[in-house]
Amino acid sequence: MLSHASRLDDIEPFHVVELFTRARQLEAEGRDIIHMEVGEPDFPTPAPIAEAAVDAIRQGKTRYTEALGLPELREAIAGFYATRYGIELPPRRIAVTNGASGALNLAFACLVEPGSEWLLADPGYPCNRHIFRAYEGRPQAIPVGPESNFQPTPAQVAAAWHGDTAGLLVASPANPTGTLLTHAELQALAGVCREREGHFLVDEIYHGLTYETDAPTACTAGDDIWVINSFSKYFQMTGWRLGWLVMPEAFVRDVEKLAQNLTLCPSTPAQYGALAAFRPETIALLEERRAEFRRRRDFLAPALENLGLRVVARPEGAFYLYCDCSALSADSFRFAGELLEQAGVAATPGLDFGRNAPERYLRFAYTTDLDRLAEAVDRIARFIGR
Ligand SMILES: Cc1ncc(COP(=O)(O)O)c(C=O)c1O
Repeated sequence: MLSHASRLDDIEPFHVVELFTRARQLEAEGRDIIHMEVGEPDFPTPAPIAEAAVDAIRQGKTRYTEALGLPELREAIAGFYATRYGIELPPRRIAVTNGASGALNLAFACLVEPGSEWLLADPGYPCNRHIFRAYEGRPQAIPVGPESNFQPTPAQVAAAWHGDTAGLLVASPANPTGTLLTHAELQALAGVCREREGHFLVDEIYHGLTYETDAPTACTAGDDIWVINSFSKYFQMTGWRLGWLVMPEAFVRDVEKLAQNLTLCPSTPAQYGALAAFRPETIALLEERRAEFRRRRDFLAPALENLGLRVVARPEGAFYLYCDCSALSADSFRFAGELLEQAGVAATPGLDFGRNAPERYLRFAYTTDLDRLAEAVDRIARFIGR
């Protein structure tokens, strides 16, 4: 009997995919489903990006690029850090990757020793613990809740750290909660890792999608920090598979060797498209869309709360509301199924984000327009008998 590697035994599917498949089935039967389970912007990629990519393809710019990406794109990303955050980053510390997923894979492939332990917030983005497993690392969950705005505190990290711990990964804004870490919090977490000679990685994929204050980048908390980012969310290029990694200088050559072997290079047309991502007209459009996300959040959060779906984390960024549905159901997984079948509203159950009381929570994505969000609220209200 041929069998897969044993590490596969710990790798779980995305539970929401089953829900999504069922939603598609219902749609095929003629039902109207409102999708609030989807973790990607509903806007098309801005036209200047698409046009730049098409031009590049027409000009035959379709061959491999440098493994760490087009030098002019690495420079453009460094330029973006200068204008948006006021910091100087040497372009050589920036690797262009296949999405944030590619950046996470390169960073983990570079750092994860077999058996080493990595601290992660629970709830958190589920793929992280599976990518750690794929590199033979052992993810260790830090349960986080409303008392720390669903982010790990320095005290929790210090308490969870032991002999085999190799590092900490956080996200700001976070998925599924949309909460942010302040500059002081990033500095304090970096300090805990540094004192223990551990690595500190910060996923900033939802940067740009913040609605109260801009999220500070961990790049300002030390040049020993690994920062993961992407063109997927703020730049609305999910299917283009393009992101980047800011790595400490000492690891540039290692990551380059890995990229040469693992991926050869990121998509060439996508990279040419991304060169137009930082143009003023593109940024102006993205800022209009950010304002639209904010309007949606400001409508949806109180509307869900009125229905007894308490928004438990301060949703300062990303496009998610993490809601406590325990007043309505003791099992969020079942509740999500019923909501889909009976109300035609798809949301993601807590189970996808970890093991920290997942049965209490549902994640609602506001990646659909205001009219549809209002319709979703009406449907949920009818479903729960309000
Ligand atoms: C926190 C977080 N990190 C990374 C990713 C991966 O994104 P991508 O590979 O599209 O850049 C996602 C996608 O939803 C995410 O939510």
